[in-house]
Amino acid sequence: MNIIVFMGPPGAGKGTQAKRICETLSIPQISTGDILRKSIQDGTELGKLAKSYIDKGELVPDSVVVGIVAERIKQDDCKNGFLLDGFPRTINQAEELEKLLDSHNKKINVVINLDVPEEELVQRLLNRAKIENRTDDTEPVIRNRMKTYFDQTYPLIQYYQKKGLLKNINGTGTIEEITSRIMQVIKN
Ligand code: AP5
Ligand code: MG
Repeated sequence: MNIIVFMGPPGAGKGTQAKRICETLSIPQISTGDILRKSIQDGTELGKLAKSYIDKGELVPDSVVVGIVAERIKQDDCKNGFLLDGFPRTINQAEELEKLLDSHNKKINVVINLDVPEEELVQRLLNRAKIENRTDDTEPVIRNRMKTYFDQTYPLIQYYQKKGLLKNINGTGTIEEITSRIMQVIKN
């Protein structure tokens, strides 16, 4: 059973690395950001709500994302494990996740925290803006996403450190180098 959490600021490479690790381990990637963007594309009520937060670089309410994850991890493809990309993002979400996993008799194996200097993060996201169409990849929204991260998500590092689950990974270098650093930690 592999239950892996990926943490890190916007642009740290969570999505990029999650795809590679999930393919190697044959487990699904559960990205709350991707799920919310899909609901925006589909024009659902959830999408309308999510858009009002995402476009400002703020967090979607905890109850909404916890509900999404609760439903997603019940699916059959999660029975041998899964990777959470961008969830939890607040202490409250982490506590709710723990209750949820308890109710399935499951536990997080490892929390991977991707560490990248802030100026490189902003540069990566501005580069991505030229390639992809994410409405939150504009400089003012990127700055606000960073602020949201430091205010609300950063405290989770200490939270998981205290639980002995946190592994800090240097998130700079080539994509391949970072994948092998992560695989090293997951194998141990
Ligand atoms: P989310 O989609 O999770 O976005 P994010 O955390 O801002 O992170 P990104 O997806 O931008 O970055 P990433 O770490 O995945 O990096 P990537 O691999 O793409 O969340 C978006 C919004 O949804 C939030 O603001 C919030 O509103 C809402 N939301 C989502 N989850 C929520 C939750 N749990 N609670 C409440 N609200 C929630 O890489 C970035 C770029 O860098 C790419 O172009 C990539 O090609 C490039 N790159 C990757 N690795 C490298 C490398 N080694 N060297 C150079 N470039 C690289
Ligand atoms: Mg991502």
